[in-house]
Formats: sequence, C-alpha cells, structure tokens
Amino acid sequence: MCGIVGAISKDRNVLPILITGLKNLEYRGYDSAGVAYLKNKKINIVKTSGKIINLENKLNKNDKSNIGIAHTRWATHGKATSINAHPHSVKHITIVHNGIIENYEEIKDMLEKENYSFKSSTDTEVACALLNYYYEEFRDVDRTIKEFMKKIIGSYAIVMIIDNDLDNIYVLKKESPLVIGISDNTNIVASDIRAIVKYTNKYYILNDFEYAKVNTNDVIIKSVNGDILSKELHTINLEEIDNSKGHYKHYMLKEIMEQNKTILRTVLSFIEDGIDSLSKLPDLTKYKEIYIVGCGTAYHAGLVAKYLFEEITNTKCNVYLASEFRYQNNFLSKDTLTIFISQSGETADTISSLKLVKSKGYPTLGIINVDNSTISYLVDKCLYTKAGSEIAVASTKAYTAQIALLSVLVLSHGLRNKTISEDYVLKVIDQFKNIDNLISPLLDDKDLYLSIAKKIYKEKDIFYIGRGLDYYLSMEGALKLKEISYIHSEAYSAGELKHGTISLIEKSTPVISSATNTKLNAKTISNLEEVLARGADIYLITDDNYKDKSFTIINIPKVSIFIKPILVIIPYQLIAYYTALLKGTDIDKPKNLAKSVTVE
Ligand code: AGP
Repeated sequence: MCGIVGAISKDRNVLPILITGLKNLEYRGYDSAGVAYLKNKKINIVKTSGKIINLENKLNKNDKSNIGIAHTRWATHGKATSINAHPHSVKHITIVHNGIIENYEEIKDMLEKENYSFKSSTDTEVACALLNYYYEEFRDVDRTIKEFMKKIIGSYAIVMIIDNDLDNIYVLKKESPLVIGISDNTNIVASDIRAIVKYTNKYYILNDFEYAKVNTNDVIIKSVNGDILSKELHTINLEEIDNSKGHYKHYMLKEIMEQNKTILRTVLSFIEDGIDSLSKLPDLTKYKEIYIVGCGTAYHAGLVAKYLFEEITNTKCNVYLASEFRYQNNFLSKDTLTIFISQSGETADTISSLKLVKSKGYPTLGIINVDNSTISYLVDKCLYTKAGSEIAVASTKAYTAQIALLSVLVLSHGLRNKTISEDYVLKVIDQFKNIDNLISPLLDDKDLYLSIAKKIYKEKDIFYIGRGLDYYLSMEGALKLKEISYIHSEAYSAGELKHGTISLIEKSTPVISSATNTKLNAKTISNLEEVLARGADIYLITDDNYKDKSFTIINIPKVSIFIKPILVIIPYQLIAYYTALLKGTDIDKPKNLAKSVTVE
C-alpha cells in the first residue's frame, strides 16, 4: 500500500533520501506521490499523480533541505489526483499518512463548524486539520497528539512537521507500521525498513498508541500518556532485505527461481536433526479444532494446510477469508487455535480478524514472512517463513514457504497425535531436504511454459480445475494468472463443471488442471475428457503416466502429499509469468494491485 518516508539531518540534503526511500517502497503499489520540505524558511509541497519520476521532474533540481516528509499513495478515499496526493497541509501542520480514519466524516463536520474548509476528498486532510485544531487550542505537541489519538477511530502511521517547530519531525502510530532509522547526524522515519536500509540498519519500531519526536540529536518515544519509553534498537538482517533483481527481468521470476533455496531455508531448523527437530514446533494436540485465516494467496496456503490436517492427521480444520471471518459468527472457543497466515504481516483484514480472536482471549499463531510486522507482534506465537524480501506483488516464494512451514507443522502434529508413523515422517523430511533436486527440473523447463503461454495469452477466459488438494492448488494457479496477465481465469472443482460452468467451454478454451491423487485422478480425467469433447485445450500437471495425445502434459515425479503442492504450483507460477510476459503487462506491479493491502 502507501509508502511513508521522513528525514531530518544536521548536514545532508534530505531530498535524495526521501526520493530513494519512496523508490524502495514502489513495489507496494501506488498511484500518486508527494514531498514536503523546508525551502526559504517555509514548508514547500510538491505533489503529483502517477509515478515517482513525475515527482522528480516537478522538483527543482537545485533545492536542498535538512528536513522533509514524503509519501506514495494508493487511493482509498478520493481519486488518484495530485490534490488528493500527500502531503496534506492545514495551517501549522503538514502530514503524510498511511491507514484509514474511519470517523473522518464526523470530524470533518465538527471542523467545518469551526470554519475549516477542505480542498481534497481525503480522510488524511481531515486528520491534518484535526491536528492543527488541537495544536492551536493547546500550543503543545504532546497534548495535541494525545487528544488526536483519543478522538480518532481507525488506523494511522502519521509523519508530521510543524511550521514553527522545524527542528523536529513527529511520528504517531496505530495499526499501520512505522519505524525510526537511526544514523550519524541523520534520522529517517518510514513505513517499511526497505526505505531506510540504504542509510542505516539500526531502527526503532513504534507500537500502537506510541509517538516520537525525532531530531538530529535524539529520538524521544512516548506513550499516549506522555511517558518516555525505552525501546529496543533493532538491526536489519540485510540478507533478508535483498531489494535487487539480480540478472532477472522481473522480481517475480527471480522469486520463483529462488524457491529451490527459500523452501528449505524455511523448514530446515525443524527438520535438520530429523524427528527431534520437529518437536520445536508448537504442540497442537490440546486443540480440538484448527482455524486458519488469511487473504488471497495466504488463504490458498491455508487450504493446503486444511487438506493435510484433515486427511493426514484427522484434525478438523476450517479456513476463512479474513474479510469474511471478522463479520460472521465463527464459534471460537479456548479449544480452537486460530492460525493467521500473512506474507506482509500488515494485511488489514487479517489484522482485524486477529484482534477479534485476541479480544476473546483465544489462542493465536502466526505464519508470517516479514519480521517485526504488526501481525508478528499481535499473535501469541509467530513462526516465520524465510522466503526473504518478496517484492513482486504476485506472491510465489512466500506461498511455497507458507505451505512448507505448515507442512512441517502438520507433520509434527501427526507425530504427536500418532496419526503418522516416524518412518513416514522421515521419508517426507528426506524429500524436503532434497527439494532443490525435485523442483529444479520444473524451474528449468522454460520452453514448455513458454509454448503453453503462446497458446493461451490471447484467450479471454481460462479455467483451472481439480479435485481435493488439486482443486485448492488450482485456486492459486488461477490467481497467479489473472493478477499479472489480466486474463479472466477461474478455479473450479472439477466435479462442479457439469453444474453450470461447462456452458462456458468453447472451442480452444484453455482448461488447466492437475491430477496428483490416485484415488481421484480417474474422475478428474473424465471431467477433462468432457471439456475436451466441447473443444477445450487441456493442459495437465500430473504424476501419473497419463499419455493422452490431445492433452499437453507436464509431468512431475511421484512424491509425498506434503511435497506435491510445491511441485504442482511451480508450473502454475511459470505459466502465469510467461503468459504475462507475452502480454507485456507490468508483471511486478500489476494495475490496481498493491503488495500489502493495509486498508479494508
Ligand atoms: C497474491 O499474489 C496477492 N499479492 C495477494 O492475494 C496477497 O496474497 C494477499 O493480499 C495477502 O497478503 P499477505 O500475505 O501479505 O497478508
């Protein structure tokens, strides 16, 4: 979503720091950008719709400043225009903001009665005006922030500068992430450590209802009551913040190809010493039921875990879309463990669902990829996927890291509840240790995926079908294709086609499928024959030696059910990638999408 950067320095021009910081956050998706900085003793604001290059072109190349704030906005309230772009300024106060002010209309009405008027249609301008209202009333920043935090309903990471206090930058936080980078003579605030990593690897993390005064000498962090807090100074693990594309044309391709390392890196500590290492994973046997909550690809990873929990360890498991879970009766109890899956750890719906479960005092577990993210702090226990920085909006290596980590969690559970033998677990552990050899042939088969992409990239509708685990995998396959190629593609349970969808199958409609369950494959194949008879082109991923000449077959080796999802999804990821490549779309930053959906 949006990106925030602010900087104050004794001896450096902060404008390049601000622009570079915004560029390091571009992967999150945005549609306007702006910067505010001190120029000729006044706060000068430059804003633009579109990309950061438009902002750079609007800036005066000779301008220098020792203090500034900057923002990339993904439009929520109000269109992607320069008027709605941040920073927003109201009299003394200028801010940039990530998050959503839920009660902004009520506040706007109150302020209009106090003769405030508004230029933009954003909640942020209202927040800025409210800060100014309190600042004019109290002439005290601590009191201003305290009253603001009491009044506001919603989420915010706000960076504020005040026209008569330009030796300081103020930051305040609730739900949207905010870090404070510390370096000699220059301090940098940002919504994501990727914006500061070029200048420092030392940073503080603000928690909810905390705020800070940042200047070139020190950083004073306080609670909403004004108590000064002593906070841990964190160090960025530079290996995990690899922002480079390497020799790849796109981050997405780099991240797909890295999976031969990231999967094993994620599970190694739980399997390196065989059975004993699995005991490091939390004991789930005290729970009667497992709930899993997530969005998009994270939700799809949850479905794979559901299949494994239920089919292999006989444990009831339900998976919910976070945006639905938080608004329905979900029969939680102390005997239910709710697992939250999130690559970014910042997805608003997942955070809200987590807060709902925590509010009832029930147990929570996180499967998270980003260290020090909001969800990683809120869950009772957090298991980290070690996929490293995932820059491309379309999730690939994070997904396979999620299903790998969930797989070893299921394995450890199956051992504890005696539904799986040690011999079986050791076989699966061996296959995980051998994952590089198992997936490299699939990663390297570029010609096959390119040949399939050439046949499908001009199609309007593409269907992914499967049964059981293959159905859940088809959901992720369809999402990968549609989100980067913009081709309408849907996943359907193979057995469901005859109940309506088969009416959409026409000559050369591509139907992509996987059949990896010997008990179900015959039925899936007959479903494929049915659509073939109606003119469809069939692409089948299978570990069976199925040899129908009219199908395009992608063979995968016979492996454990715990490894199959990884082998099936890699062709799906690469078919999507090469199809989008032929379509010429913005593969790493697809239109309308953001890497982390930090608003509902
Ligand atoms: C997947 O390719 C998408 N980028 C999107 O569905 C994503 O998985 C979803 O927004 C959840 O994000 P999270 O894992 O960071 O919570």
